[in-house]
Amino acid sequence: MRTHETRRDFASDNCAAAHPKVLAALEAVDGGHLPSYGADLYTSLLEERVRELFGRHARTFPVFNGTGANILGLQAVTPRWSAVVCADAAHLHTDECGAPEYAGFKLLTVPTADGRLDPDDLADLARDARNRHRAQPGVLSLTQSTELGTCYRPAELAVLTEEAHRHGWKVHVDGARLANAAARLGVGLAEAAAGADVISLGVTKNGGMIGEAVVVLDPDADGVGFLQKAGTQLPSKTRYVSAQLLALLDGDLWRANATQANSMADRLAAGLRGAPGVRVVHPVEANAVFASLPAGVAEQLRATYSFSDWGPGTVRLMTAWDTRAEDVDGLLAAVRALMPGDVHDPTARAVQEASSPESVGFLA
Ligand SMILES: Cc1ncc(COP(=O)(O)O)c(C=O)c1O
Repeated sequence: MRTHETRRDFASDNCAAAHPKVLAALEAVDGGHLPSYGADLYTSLLEERVRELFGRHARTFPVFNGTGANILGLQAVTPRWSAVVCADAAHLHTDECGAPEYAGFKLLTVPTADGRLDPDDLADLARDARNRHRAQPGVLSLTQSTELGTCYRPAELAVLTEEAHRHGWKVHVDGARLANAAARLGVGLAEAAAGADVISLGVTKNGGMIGEAVVVLDPDADGVGFLQKAGTQLPSKTRYVSAQLLALLDGDLWRANATQANSMADRLAAGLRGAPGVRVVHPVEANAVFASLPAGVAEQLRATYSFSDWGPGTVRLMTAWDTRAEDVDGLLAAVRALMPGDVHDPTARAVQEASSPESVGFLA
């Protein structure tokens, strides 16, 4: 029996349904026989659309999933003995079951406060260049938006990517949520990943059903199609992945979906900041809210809602393209109802307000 149609959770944007326009696009490309392995009309149309958005030299490789996109993207721009510089919070490092290492890459992780790398982090890693005993950084991998729900501003991207290129490294952008960053920053997808040589372009978290794409901007990247096949990321019925991307990229559905998800995260964060004893831990710049809740609240809340634990006392609440205001308000009401009496205390409130990311004044 179907009981999930109206359910909205906060565990992940992966839990959301596919957007109706994506489903309609899948239906529209269905029927009849078409060439396989990316030789179909819809993949050609997608390639053209991506060139319009990312530049004439952009090459598109529709793949099955985000982990595969990341690995193919890295393989496309750097040899196997290279190391990949990334934040310690990077999905590559924390949540891909060692797939980069499985593919032969060593990850050089850098601790960050909010998921964003700083240009100063890179200099030390570049010091041992040409020392054959050291893994040689070959790629800087940035996640946009980051795993901690923050965004790199265009000016920050410019400095980081210039620095990486100065060291002779390529730049990979894990853009599983590039749409959320672009929507928040008020820029296009290309600008939100400016300076990248290769992008893992997110689909699933943005209202797609299944699949992502690797967008290769580096004109020297060679043999990507072979790597895609050898790495098991070449869908035979590529038209169905391409159709989803076309639906999202046509008419800026990607932006509408991401904007909705982001604004629901804002609503959630604002409501949580108003709840005594709750602290919003990182700036809310995309569709994730990290919050520390008074002891016991998360455990009880779990009876009604799904969400992720993110370190001691901290939870991650994610919104998606289909999160509605009433879903957020329902969760906020549930949190408030679970508040223990002793947190209705003005000191807790003052601490919360002082540490509120709103006071950082990040994005207009
Ligand atoms: C930032 C980021 N990159 C990559 C991925 C990997 O995507 P997939 O689970 O489709 O392999 C995820 C998935 O949650 C992600 O959040």
